[in-house]
Amino acid sequence: TQPRTFRIAAIPADGVGAEVVAAGRTVLDALAEDSRGAFSFDWEEFPWGCDYYAKTGKMIDDDGLDRLKDFDAIYFGAVGWPNVPDHISLWGLRLKICQSFDQWANIRPVHFLPGVQSPLRKADDTELDWVVVRENSEGEYAGLGGRNLSGRGPGGEVALQSALFTEVGCERIMRFAFDLARTRARCKVSSVTKSNAQQYGMVLWDDVFKRVAQDYPDVETESVLVDAMSAKFVLKPEDLSVVVASNLNADILSDLGSALAGSLGLAASANLNPERRFPSMFEPVHGSAPDIAGQGLANPIGAVGSAALMLDHFGLPEQAARLHKAIQATTAAGVLTRDVGGTATTEEVTKALIAHLAD
Ligand code: NAI
Ligand code: MG
Repeated sequence: TQPRTFRIAAIPADGVGAEVVAAGRTVLDALAEDSRGAFSFDWEEFPWGCDYYAKTGKMIDDDGLDRLKDFDAIYFGAVGWPNVPDHISLWGLRLKICQSFDQWANIRPVHFLPGVQSPLRKADDTELDWVVVRENSEGEYAGLGGRNLSGRGPGGEVALQSALFTEVGCERIMRFAFDLARTRARCKVSSVTKSNAQQYGMVLWDDVFKRVAQDYPDVETESVLVDAMSAKFVLKPEDLSVVVASNLNADILSDLGSALAGSLGLAASANLNPERRFPSMFEPVHGSAPDIAGQGLANPIGAVGSAALMLDHFGLPEQAARLHKAIQATTAAGVLTRDVGGTATTEEVTKALIAHLAD
């Protein structure tokens, strides 16, 4: 077979983003080296983020999206720092890339790892493994609304934040979820809704779910209100396989899922443009963690797990599986960062991951 080179744009951005992207790159390069030329990674790193904004007034260069669009993938760290308001940094970089490149499917697996204690007692004796599929292009993060609409002056300010639900947007994410369910041991999709209170968008969401489900008679389904689903994550997680939810609901639930697995630092994600018209973006779920940034304490496993999702996207599932095995061997051996109860540094975990690639 032809040797393959994958061109990856690295955007470490802020705080621990830099530390975990560096760790992920090291692990991926070790994997490529080990492939004896079967595949390699060609990296280009971009300096965008809050420091860049402080210097230039821009979160990303004007031609930034143009420069990114021909890469095979984007490997992202985390954006946000106290020197820039969060809504400016998030919209200016991460959401800009997600929306411009139509990365409408955000995949967030909830993985339980050996050697990592879960706050769920159930996790000790029950097989738990589910994935949150997040609608990533519209919903509550459509950016529709305005502030001080009526000009009522000080003390009378008004803000409106709307959510956008389209039939096309709901349908494509639900079909994606059903297709994913068919590849899993438990063939089930749980739809997260709030149609009792949100009678327009969420009722459309429910209607599309019911319609799409008819095309997948072999897939078990349920529709659960988001408040009940948050309880279910804690009390009956063994009942979950694929959980499909709107942008905001999935954002919240996936942080809960990663906390249940032991730490936000473990959680991986992929922002996919399934049509492959644009590059997809792979990033840990966590943010820039200003409280621990620059101290070598960041858990790199979320970023490395995101790299495994990138390998899957590249059509290298056996390499992705090797990364997952290395992650499991590392945590099972007790090489853990502080957030999961250990004393290892980012670098020590990274070295252990590379050592276990040879297992
Ligand atoms: P955060 O995820 O940065 O931190 C929450 C907690 O988790 C902190 O205690 C932190 O130390 C811990 N944590 C996060 N990642 C970790 C890792 N790899 N290893 C060990 N512990 C880790 O969320 P927070 O504090 O709400 O936000 C901080 C900044 O990050 C804000 O500016 C926010 O806007 C931004 N953010 C960016 C995201 C992104 O780029 N995708 C996602 C979430 C937040
Ligand atoms: Mg989040």
